[in-house]
Amino acid sequence: MAKKIIITIDGWSSCGKSTLARQLARELGYVYVDSGAMYRAITLYFLRNHIDWTDQKQVKEALEQIVLDFHFNTKTETSEIFLNDENVEYVIRDLVVAEKVSDVAAIKEVREFAVAQQQALGKKKGIVMDGRDIGTVVFPNAELKIFMTADNAVRVERRFRELFEKNPNITIEEVKNNLEMRDYIDSHREVSPLRQADDALVLDNTNLTPEQQLQKALAWVGERVA
Ligand code: DC
Repeated sequence: MAKKIIITIDGWSSCGKSTLARQLARELGYVYVDSGAMYRAITLYFLRNHIDWTDQKQVKEALEQIVLDFHFNTKTETSEIFLNDENVEYVIRDLVVAEKVSDVAAIKEVREFAVAQQQALGKKKGIVMDGRDIGTVVFPNAELKIFMTADNAVRVERRFRELFEKNPNITIEEVKNNLEMRDYIDSHREVSPLRQADDALVLDNTNLTPEQQLQKALAWVGERVA
């Protein structure tokens, strides 16, 4: 049996990280973990419970009440996130959550809480995890690190199409502003900002089909497990 490795995929918002991560997990029989979903679920909990996240005490107490799990959905063939036993995979994609998640993800206690769980999930290897700090902080020794990028206009268009399906009132301006704001906060925060790991391979998928991006990544995997 081929050696199992850890694959990290980091990059800007809406670059297609989760699409590639899902493709790789399916192809290799690996576990896929969407680390952004964890920050989104925590943000959802804070919003629903009116937590003032500028107050360290409130943040610490709230985190003690949060249990996050991933369960594989055989129908959609992907893992879905549960917040205290509730499937929140769909609701965390809402723009209301997207507007606040970068602020919540910048909090040190929140990151410590999420990173510890992410590292535990990687113990057995055979995992693909996407996010912003997976190759730099969560798994600095991962065998394959991918840093994804794509043209801004393409990213805005992709995310707009995805959100428009759920909410036809959404405008392209709103989506563009949200992406720009998140990229700025994610790459300028003090604790583990988004940056390319020195040993990451760059995958620009602006002009690649999903199949082409998968083949490129699979070639890199092949080199690592050989
Ligand atoms: O990947 P995503 O768009 O679902 O992530 C949502 C937010 O969570 C993103 O704006 C930044 C934050 N995030 C993070 O700080 N670190 C990660 N490893 C993953 C996501």
